Amino acid sequence: MTKSEQLYQRAIKTVPGGVHSNSRARSPYPYYIKKGEGAYITDVDGNRYIDMIMGNGAIFFGHGYAPFTTRYQENLTRCEGLTTGWETELAVEAAEAFLRIIPAERVRFTNTGTEAITHVMQMARAYTGKNDFALVEGAYDGWSDEVNISTFPSLKDVGDVENPVPVPGAGGLDPRIVANTVIVPFNNLEVTRKILTANKDRLAALILEPVLIDIGFVEPKPGYLQGLRELCDELGILLVFDELLTGFRVPEGSCQKWFNVTPDLSIFGKAIANGHIMAAVAGKSDVMETVASKGTASFVGTFNGHIYSVAAALAALTLMEDGSAREGMEKNIQRMKEHFEATAKALGIPAVMNGRGGHLQWYFTDHVENYRDAAGSNVENYAIFANAMLEQGIMVIPKPLAHHAISVSHDEQVIDRIIAAADRALEKVAQSRK
Ligand SMILES: Cc1ncc(COP(=O)(O)O)c(C=O)c1O
Repeated sequence: MTKSEQLYQRAIKTVPGGVHSNSRARSPYPYYIKKGEGAYITDVDGNRYIDMIMGNGAIFFGHGYAPFTTRYQENLTRCEGLTTGWETELAVEAAEAFLRIIPAERVRFTNTGTEAITHVMQMARAYTGKNDFALVEGAYDGWSDEVNISTFPSLKDVGDVENPVPVPGAGGLDPRIVANTVIVPFNNLEVTRKILTANKDRLAALILEPVLIDIGFVEPKPGYLQGLRELCDELGILLVFDELLTGFRVPEGSCQKWFNVTPDLSIFGKAIANGHIMAAVAGKSDVMETVASKGTASFVGTFNGHIYSVAAALAALTLMEDGSAREGMEKNIQRMKEHFEATAKALGIPAVMNGRGGHLQWYFTDHVENYRDAAGSNVENYAIFANAMLEQGIMVIPKPLAHHAISVSHDEQVIDRIIAAADRALEKVAQSRK
C-alpha cells in the first residue's frame, strides 16, 4: 500500500472523503503532498510532479519562491506580535499597491472569494434596493447559495439557449434562491439583453467572470463586455466582474484594464497574495463608499486585513507591479499553445489550447465560446490526454471542465517538459482513434 493510500485510510476515519475541499477528491484516493519547490510538488511516496494546478491558480510565483518569501517575512517583522483585529500600515500599503495595478477607486480586503462575492451581493442590494442576481451559465463565483448555480450543469438540464434554466450546483442550496436566479449565456449579448430587460426591476447586479475561466479559459468576444456595460447602465443593474482568477495574470493585470470596461464592483483573490489567504472587493467609490464605508451593508470580518494576509499581499503585489512576471508567463503560454495546436493538427485531432497570462486549458473540440461549447469537448480524448500527462509526471486535473495554471517558476526547461509530454499524450489520443 502506498503512503498516500495509508494516509487516505487514516484520514477517512476523521475527515469526510479524506479531503478538506471536495475539489481535491481523486479516484481511488487523493494525493497527499509533502513538499513544494518552484514548479514542482512531491507526494508522500516521493513522486515528483510538475504542478499545473498551482493552488487553483492562486500561486503566482511558485512554491517557496525565495524573493517572495524574503519580502513576506520582512513585512511580518513590521507588525511584531500582531495577528488580526487592528488596522496597520501594512494594510494601507497593500491597498495602495493593489490600486496601482487594478484601475478601481476603492478596495477592501477580505479572505476568500466566496466571502468577497457575498459582500458584493449585499452591497449591490443595499445600493440598488433590488434583491436578485443574474449569473452566467458555467461560471463559478463561489459556493454560497446565491452563486453556486449553473456552475457545471449537465447539458441535459440547461434548457434552451434563449432561456437557460438555473441549475443548483450542489445539494443543500435554498431552492427559492436558485429559482429566483437569472441565468444568461456567455458571449451572447442579444439573448442577455432580452433576459436582463425582462427581469430588470428585480436584478441588483449581473455577475460574471469576464473571461469564463473556471471551466478553462473562454475569452469574451470583441464588444461583448462593452455591450454588457451599456446594457447594465441602461437597465439600472450593477455590473460585477469576478476577477478572482483573471486578476494580476491576464494582460494588463485585470480584465477591466485589458478590455477597458469599468465594472461597478469586482472581486479579486488568489494571485493577490501568492497562495496566502486573501481576497478583495474593489470598485467605484460611490458604490463602495455608500455601502461599505457608511455601513449600510455589513462589511465586517474577524480576519479581514489579517497581518499574515496583508504581509503576503504587499510582498506579492510589489513584486508583480512592473508586469514582467506576468509577461513571462504569457510568452510561455503562447509557446505551449502554438506547439499543442500544431501537434493536434498534424495528428488530425480537433483540439485547442486556450489561455493567457499563466492560465490555460486544453479542449478536445475546435471552437469554444461559451459553456455549452466547452461542455461538448470530447470527454474520452481528454481522459486519455490527462492520464498520459499524469503518467509523465505532469499534475493535471482529470475532469475536462477544469482550469490549469503555471507560475513564474515554470521556466523554459519546465515548459519544454510540458510541451514534450503533451506531444506524447496527443499521440496516445491519436492511437486510441485508430
Ligand atoms: C472565479 C472564482 N470566483 C470565486 C471563487 C471562490 O473563491 P474561494 O474558493 O476563495 O471561496 C473561485 C474559486 O475557485 C473562483 O475561481
